[in-house]
Amino acid sequence: MEIPAIKFDNVWKIYRMGAVEVPALKGLSIEIRRGEHVAVMGPSGSGKSTFLHLAGALDKPTKGRILIEGRDPNKLSDGELSMLRNKYIGFVFQTFNLIPRLTALQNVMLPLILRGVDGVERVKRAKEALERVGLGHRINHRPTEMSGGEQQRVAMARAIVTDPKIILADEPTGNLDSASAAEIVNLLTTLNRDLGITLVVVTHNPEAAAPARRIVRIRDGVVYEGN
Ligand SMILES: Nc1ncnc2c1ncn2[C@@H]1O[C@H](COP(=O)(O)OP(=O)(O)OP(=O)(O)O)[C@@H](O)[C@H]1O
Ligand SMILES: [Mg+2]
Repeated sequence: MEIPAIKFDNVWKIYRMGAVEVPALKGLSIEIRRGEHVAVMGPSGSGKSTFLHLAGALDKPTKGRILIEGRDPNKLSDGELSMLRNKYIGFVFQTFNLIPRLTALQNVMLPLILRGVDGVERVKRAKEALERVGLGHRINHRPTEMSGGEQQRVAMARAIVTDPKIILADEPTGNLDSASAAEIVNLLTTLNRDLGITLVVVTHNPEAAAPARRIVRIRDGVVYEGN
C-alpha cells in the first residue's frame, strides 16, 4: 500500500495559555496522497494554520496520530523533527519570512547550509531554484529591493531548493496584488504538476484555491468537507 504524504488520525491540538486551554484542532482526520494538490479553506480561527504547522512537523499534536511521509513526529526528538522538516517539507508563508539583510541567493542557500551542502554546490542549486521561479536576474537583490511578488518567489525558491516532497503554503497570496497572486498560484501549480511535489495551500482566496483538484474545508477544528 502506498504511503500517504500526510495522514492525520483524530488529531487534537490544545494550546495552553496559563490556566486556559484553547482547542484549535478537535479530532481532525485527513489523508493527503503523494502528488495531490489540495486547497484548505475555512473561517478565521478554524485551525487551518495549526493544521499546517502540525503537517509540517513544526509542532506536535496533543492527541491523535500524525504521519508525514510515513513518519510519526511524536516518536521523534526535536533534532530528528527538524531533520524531517529539512528533508521533506518546504514552507511558504503569507509574510514571505525572508531574512532582510541577506540577498535572494543567500536566503535560498540557507536550508542547504543547515544540510551541510558545500559552498559551490550550494550556490549552483540556489541559482537553479531562483531560475525556476523566474528570478535569475535578481539573485543579488535584498528583500527590500524586490516587489512583494518577487519576494514570495524567493521564498518559493527557498522552499524548493532542498527538493522537498511536500510544499505547505499558508495564505501565500494574502499580501499580494491580484496579478502577483496569479503568478504565485501558477508557479505553485506548476511545481505540483511538473515536479510531482505534494502541495497544500491554505487560502481565503477562491482564485488561489481554483487550480486545486481537491478543496478541504475546515471548521471549528475538524474537516467538514473534502475528505
Ligand atoms: N500559539 C497559540 N497559542 C494559543 N492559541 C492559539 C495559538 N495559535 C493559534 N491559537 C488559537 O487556535 C485557534 C486556531 O488558530 P489558527 O491560527 O490555526 O486559525 P486559522 O484557521 O489559521 O485562522 P486565520 O484564517 O485567521 O489564519 C484560534 O482560536 C487561535 O486563537
Ligand atoms: Mg492562519
